[in-house]
Amino acid sequence: MKSIRLLNVGGRSLRGVLLLSATMLFAAPAVMAGDPIKGGKIYNQQCKQCHGSRGKSTFPGVADFSRGEGLMMADHALLKKIRDGRGMMPAFRGMLKDDEIFDVITYLRKLHR
Ligand code: HEC
Repeated sequence: MKSIRLLNVGGRSLRGVLLLSATMLFAAPAVMAGDPIKGGKIYNQQCKQCHGSRGKSTFPGVADFSRGEGLMMADHALLKKIRDGRGMMPAFRGMLKDDEIFDVITYLRKLHR
C-alpha cells in the first residue's frame, strides 16, 4: 500500500516533466527552426543584391554576415528588423512570410562559422 502511494506521487510529477519536455520538443522546432536551403534561395533572390554573395557585403556600412556582423540578436529581433526594414533596407513585411524570414535567418547564421 505504501509503495503504491509513493508510485502515484512519483508518477504525477513524472508526467508533468514528460509533458513539459514533450512540449519543448514538438513546439520549439515547429516555430523556430528554419530551413537553410529554402532560406538560401530566398536570400539569393531578395537580399543578395545588397548583402552580397554568402553575406559578404560590398556596400560600406552594411553588416557583413560572413563575419557574423548584424546577427548578434535573437531570431525574433532579427525577424522584426527584416520585416520593418531600416534606412536603405526595404521592409519585407507582406513580401516574405514570417517562416520564410526564419528560413533566411537560419541561412544567415550558417554563413559565419
Ligand atoms: C536595397 C538593399 C537591401 C536589400 C535588398 C536587403 N538589405 Fe538588409 N540591409 C541593407 C542596409 C543598407 C542595411 C543597413 C541598415 C542600417 O543600419 O541603416 C541592412 C541591414 C540588414 C540587417 C542588419 C540589421 C542591423 O541592425 O545590423 C539584416 C539582418 C538584414 N539587413 C537582413 C536582410 C535580409 C534577410 C534581406 C533579404 C530578405 C535584406 N536584408 C535585404 C540593405 C538591404
